[in-house]
Amino acid sequence: MDEHNFNQIMRPRKVCVCRSVDKKTLEEAVKNGARTLGQLTLQTGAARNCGTCLPQVIEILHDTLEQVEAAESGQEPLPFKKVENAIE
Ligand code: FES
Repeated sequence: MDEHNFNQIMRPRKVCVCRSVDKKTLEEAVKNGARTLGQLTLQTGAARNCGTCLPQVIEILHDTLEQVEAAESGQEPLPFKKVENAIE
């Protein structure tokens, strides 16, 4: 495998292609205080163009909020916990 192919494989996959936002950026934004979809999309720019990435952005918000809440409460995250008021 040459260097170009290696870099293509190892490069973080973009969740939002329109705004070039990857999963790690979205997770970090939630961990740093974004608690609603509106806050997350405003801070990162994700899902503010075509909207194709919106379901994945919502899923990342949901999953990361679970992790943050679990860490704050000292508990393990529940697999299907519903997040209230995640969409503004
Ligand atoms: S892919 Fe995210 S707004 Fe288009």
